Amino acid sequence: VEIDWDAETAEKGGYETFMLKEIHEQADAVAETIADRTARGDGVDLGDLGTIDDAFLRDVRRIIVVACGTSYHAGLIGRYAIEGWARVPVEMDVASEYRYRNPVVGPGDLVIGISQSGETADTLAAMRLARERGATVLAITNVMGSQATRDADGVLFTRAGLEIGVAATKTFVGQVAVMYLLALRLAELRGTLAPERLAELVGELKRLPHHITEMLDAGDEEIRAIAERHYKAEFFLYLGRHIGLPVALEGALKLKEISYIATDAYAAGEMKHGPIALLDDDTPVVCVATDSPVLDKVVSNIQEVRVRGAHVIAVASAGNEEIREHAEEVLTVAETDWMLAPLLAVVPLQLLSYHVARLRGLNVDQPRNLAKTVTVE
Ligand code: G6P
Repeated sequence: VEIDWDAETAEKGGYETFMLKEIHEQADAVAETIADRTARGDGVDLGDLGTIDDAFLRDVRRIIVVACGTSYHAGLIGRYAIEGWARVPVEMDVASEYRYRNPVVGPGDLVIGISQSGETADTLAAMRLARERGATVLAITNVMGSQATRDADGVLFTRAGLEIGVAATKTFVGQVAVMYLLALRLAELRGTLAPERLAELVGELKRLPHHITEMLDAGDEEIRAIAERHYKAEFFLYLGRHIGLPVALEGALKLKEISYIATDAYAAGEMKHGPIALLDDDTPVVCVATDSPVLDKVVSNIQEVRVRGAHVIAVASAGNEEIREHAEEVLTVAETDWMLAPLLAVVPLQLLSYHVARLRGLNVDQPRNLAKTVTVE
């Protein structure tokens, strides 16, 4: 008997690609990342943050997040959580821009560099610049001993395990989980959330891995069917508002990275100022429409898209039956606190990109022209 076996097949653990395996490891990535940090139940412990102490976090004036690619999108989600729960102003910049715009930054500022690899040249340079100017620098990374850990005053690790697929998936959900933890810790230290509300959010955060497992266990037949309908499209538009916007940006990035289909991602309210001109009969428009205080606004945007003949694929919370009247296709995610929904909503969008790319016959683990870690400028 000949056994067709090689080390790579074994490493993929029965999955056809690393990316699919890593998508399926996301519940663990989140569970590992939050486990001991939420053990107390009524709050968050971040452990040893180097020289960044509780007093600094409590009094921090301003937070600036620098990152690239998918890590930048994790930062955007973190911004809503930190501003919403802890009331600290957060600025965001892509690292390659930040380093060249002579940023106003100094003592009292907390600069957070998010980098899965901890080796991205632009992110490291942005962190160093901020540190030279007296800011306190926190690194969020998945790799112990990476350069980012040496260039920072404190480190928060994601615990996603080694990621091989070039397109980030499980490290992204790990980063988002860390941003939620940091936001909750800041809120706790600053007293901006009532203790019951804080405990409720910690509880919801702890349930997320379970929701991800259930979603993945339910299978992806529906997503595959949607992919079959649209994989020949030349363009996909992604729309979201508020916390749904970074999900739209990440969904669009995933699709373009691995399927080479042109995508655009827009704040839904800004659509009428440009992207609406791109809509044609049957243009697939992915709308992030999970429950939130702006859901009715998103639904109005969906209606605007639909009257132009576009084809709406909505990502919505499980309890939302009405959304089916507005969208051709609906991908549902479990109900959770609306601020936490991005961590669930990104999963069906990763799978949609995955199936579209596979149907186009592409190598999703190593897309053309892209590198896992960009150590040059
Ligand atoms: C590359 C990868 C992306 C990643 C980005 C930032 O472009 O292909 O998946 O998001 O770098 O990488 P980092 O390691 O800094 O998170």
